[in-house]
Amino acid sequence: MMDKTLKTLIGSEDLTKEIKNLADRINAYYAEKYSLNEELTIVCVLKGAVMFFTELSKHLKMPLRMEFVSLSSYGAGEKSSGKVSALSLSLPPLENKNVLVVEDIMDTGLTLKFLLDFIKTKCKANDVKLAVMCDKKCARKYDISPDFYAIDVDDKFIVGFGLDYNELYRNLPYIGYFE
Ligand code: XMP
Ligand code: MG
Repeated sequence: MMDKTLKTLIGSEDLTKEIKNLADRINAYYAEKYSLNEELTIVCVLKGAVMFFTELSKHLKMPLRMEFVSLSSYGAGEKSSGKVSALSLSLPPLENKNVLVVEDIMDTGLTLKFLLDFIKTKCKANDVKLAVMCDKKCARKYDISPDFYAIDVDDKFIVGFGLDYNELYRNLPYIGYFE
């Protein structure tokens, strides 16, 4: 991987613009269905979603509660391991709360299917929605899709803006890939 060149898929300015547009759509949904005065719990899936979560939340207009869970389905490398490990899944009571789960990327869909089932059935939340930065639709294996997403990506392994390769490159302010 290191001997390949890092190419830009989406530059920093375009990416933050798309995240702002996404926030506008999310605000519009909650304004119409509830009210922008009503609280929303946003759940960040660590570590990958951290940059997207902070960028997105700057533009959300409702009072937010911020929660963090830590899940992993990749291990080291570029392929999903096919099972989800919950490294930390402690959440406050979410009964009857509106919850927006925020994740870096939906690939096969396994991680988010696991987490959404957990929040819907175990936590008995009211309205559970899902926002992802990147939707890799072509890799989907489970019957799930994001309610909101910022960008479509094809079947490339991407890094940056929270996404890692062997824990590196999360700090890039843009999304790139190796070629
Ligand atoms: P699943 O298959 O559960 O995978 O939808 C989602 C998780 O896998 C990671 N993932 C990636 N990480 N570049 C990355 O750095 C990628 O292209 C990529 N595709 C999937 C990611 O952590 C996500 O939460
Ligand atoms: Mg992740």
